[in-house]
Amino acid sequence: MAVSTPARNVVQMSVFRGDAAGGEMVPYRVPVREGMVVLDAVLWVQANMAPDLAVRWNCKAAKCGSCSAEIDGFPRLMCKSPVADYGDELTVRPMRTFPVIRDLVTDVSWNYEVNKKIPPFTPSAADAADPEPWRMQQEDVDRVIEFRKCIECFLCQDVCHVLRNHDRKDAFFGPRFMIRTAALEMHPKDALDRRALMRDEGGVGMCNITKCCTEVCPEHIHITDNAIIPLKERVADLSFDPLRAVVRRLRGA
Ligand code: SF4
Ligand code: SF4
Ligand code: FES
Repeated sequence: MAVSTPARNVVQMSVFRGDAAGGEMVPYRVPVREGMVVLDAVLWVQANMAPDLAVRWNCKAAKCGSCSAEIDGFPRLMCKSPVADYGDELTVRPMRTFPVIRDLVTDVSWNYEVNKKIPPFTPSAADAADPEPWRMQQEDVDRVIEFRKCIECFLCQDVCHVLRNHDRKDAFFGPRFMIRTAALEMHPKDALDRRALMRDEGGVGMCNITKCCTEVCPEHIHITDNAIIPLKERVADLSFDPLRAVVRRLRGA
């Protein structure tokens, strides 16, 4: 776990080197400079010691979602993780939930396949034909805008035990796609009903609300409270029969 340490000159960083067939942790001694993040340290190794070290990154500003990895065993963005927050030694591994391509680079394409299964935003025919600008209540905008902050880093997918420990990619879309679906289902101008999809193929019932996904989200999206729980409630409404509930109440059952 991350700890605050005094300034120091060198950090011993062990990085996974290998591919789908296997690999090993290779130690590197990296000179530390002020403000250095783990991605800087990895890029220093690449520039000075191991030019063939594979690492994916783009923005170095915690916005592209490319540099996801596991630092000292925790899913993190490398560009948002100061070296000073760790001890004299640290480990950097690729995300465990996805197949390794090489070194720190994983194959996250399964996520894009899941994304394709979720029908996109679809307005009603009347709204689609309306030449006037649509009007929405501010509270409706506020509710879905949180979900639009997702940078698709897939750290939530990496940490979710349904995918990570039980490898149920066959039956569960994962938290990132719960928020994508919630954003669509809560959109006042969307006319589709994706509840059956999420109940059946999406497997929303497999989430047991441990909130691990919420804890690792670099955008601080309240994945569980604001997306998954409301989605579960909406899916439960699918099999809720109000007439039967009234009869039950009259019978005192
Ligand atoms: S709250 Fe649900 S989706 Fe999030 S990590 Fe836990 S089981 Fe996975
Ligand atoms: S919800 Fe958060 S953790 Fe999950 S992919 Fe989006 S930004 Fe990353
Ligand atoms: S390099 Fe873009 S999120 Fe880290």
